[in-house]
Amino acid sequence: MADNPKTPKHPLRSAQWFGLKDKNGFMYRSWMKNQGIPEHHFCGRPVIGICNTWSELTPCNAHFRELADKVRRGIIEAGGVPVEFPVFSSGESNLRPTAMLTRNLAAMDVEESIRGNPIDGVVLMAGCDKTTPALLMGAASCDVPAIVVTGGPMLNGKHHGRDVGSGTLVWTMHEDYKAGRISLQDFLDAEAGMSRSAGTCNTMGTASTMACLAEVMGVSLPHNAAIPAVDSRRSVLAHLSGMRIVDMVHENLCLSKVLTRDAFINAIRTNAVIGGSTNAVIHLKAIAQRVGVPLSMDDWQTYGKDVPTLVNLQPSGRYLMEEFYYAGGLPAVLKRMGDAGLLHKEALTVNGKTLWENNREAPCYNDDVIRPLDNPLCANGGICVLKGNLAPRGAVLKPSSATPALMRHRGRALVFDSFEDYKARIDDPDLDVDENSVLVLRNCGPKGYPGMAEVGNIGLPPKLLKKGVTDMLRVTDARMSGTAYGTVVLHVTPESRELGPLAAVRDGDMIRVDASTGELELEVSDQTLAERMGELVAPAPPLTGYMRLYLDHVTQADEGCDFDFLVGCRGADVPGHSH
Ligand code: FES
Repeated sequence: MADNPKTPKHPLRSAQWFGLKDKNGFMYRSWMKNQGIPEHHFCGRPVIGICNTWSELTPCNAHFRELADKVRRGIIEAGGVPVEFPVFSSGESNLRPTAMLTRNLAAMDVEESIRGNPIDGVVLMAGCDKTTPALLMGAASCDVPAIVVTGGPMLNGKHHGRDVGSGTLVWTMHEDYKAGRISLQDFLDAEAGMSRSAGTCNTMGTASTMACLAEVMGVSLPHNAAIPAVDSRRSVLAHLSGMRIVDMVHENLCLSKVLTRDAFINAIRTNAVIGGSTNAVIHLKAIAQRVGVPLSMDDWQTYGKDVPTLVNLQPSGRYLMEEFYYAGGLPAVLKRMGDAGLLHKEALTVNGKTLWENNREAPCYNDDVIRPLDNPLCANGGICVLKGNLAPRGAVLKPSSATPALMRHRGRALVFDSFEDYKARIDDPDLDVDENSVLVLRNCGPKGYPGMAEVGNIGLPPKLLKKGVTDMLRVTDARMSGTAYGTVVLHVTPESRELGPLAAVRDGDMIRVDASTGELELEVSDQTLAERMGELVAPAPPLTGYMRLYLDHVTQADEGCDFDFLVGCRGADVPGHSH
């Protein structure tokens, strides 16, 4: 029998299963041996879970079996024992009503899969929008050594001789179609050109945002965020991540040592610099709560507000993730941030080095893709937090993808009671609306449209599109795709279904937004607002099944939309385990 190639510095968690010399140990080892695992793999080698969100129904993660094989090679090379396991795959493009409905379900799956099994450390294989936060949330609640390997972005989309971005192309071409500028066939012809390789959305949508934030928070190796999915260097990174997790187990480098408050502040600032998704506000809060790190909406205002957007990627800018990687990727961004005093440089990362040790020498190869500080894409790019009588607990606006003139605006409300109501009426040529109107979409929050669907960037009325109007102020309790753009006030909290003030807005009310002062006001008297809210009636009780669990326990957007009973770190000990 061969010995473990490295002597563990502390007892392995998996030894509670495989180290037993009794009836239970017999059973744990015996069944695993049916996979051809030799005896010496049960003698002190770290058992590494490969937590895989592979699914053909999650096209962005459909290449993960091959990538997991590269991780497996690295684990074996470093002396670990790889064990791959599937978890629920919350795929953005197919799941109805929205993948966000099942982010917490996936997080529960991850947490219980890790805790209940003989796993010493875990490689989190994520990519599509909700899979990255879900896997981090679940692993954080167990607080084991963990490293993130995302699937990488797709190659640039190509259509009619130009580069086109995932998602963003859909919004622009659909508006062109609605305005009569292109035909339906033109619109449909773009499908194949937009998604032409394995990988996640190639814009700075939520998937790329969360991959960048995972990298800056130190839970993945440098360059993980941007290497294209089909670039052989991603396979190398997967291999190296497999090697590294084995050492992390030996070093007992658990997630809580990496996911510190400094790491989250770095993430808030980085989100501004990359022009990242508004969804990050919700996901970072949910992850932070799992490791017990305090993080509030005010932190976004305090640490992100005045930070410039430097990364010139769609939907805020011009380029796509391929160019971002070739320009130097996130390390080049972090180098610029560090030089400008925008980073907590000493934050620890999974390779055992600080964030600054990893990135202080990073070169930038293209100053138009990653702008210098003195030539930003947007001077104040951080997520803007708005509060007022219309959103007592806050709402968010993304300045880098908004129209500057509309960030201070006052206009008449046109209220849509639901997304269905919007769809039924928006094409009406007699709709009482003009370019100064404020489109209000409600009942689309975490409970109103269970999962808080990404419908906030409702398209403009065709009659205004045909007049050349390109943007209007919109206010909603919904989310918006990270690939979308426009002056959209999102995540209004409390949501309408929870009888927040948004439910009391009426057609013709004046709404005022001022991003410079952080105000979102409904211009009616306190008495009128109180009277209207007193007339509101709570909706019918929820259904059965998972939807019932979700509606009973999901928290509001400012609390991360986690389930109230999942908040916190429960550690990796198995309750009641007595071996
Ligand atoms: Fe999966 Fe965009 S739909 S990353």
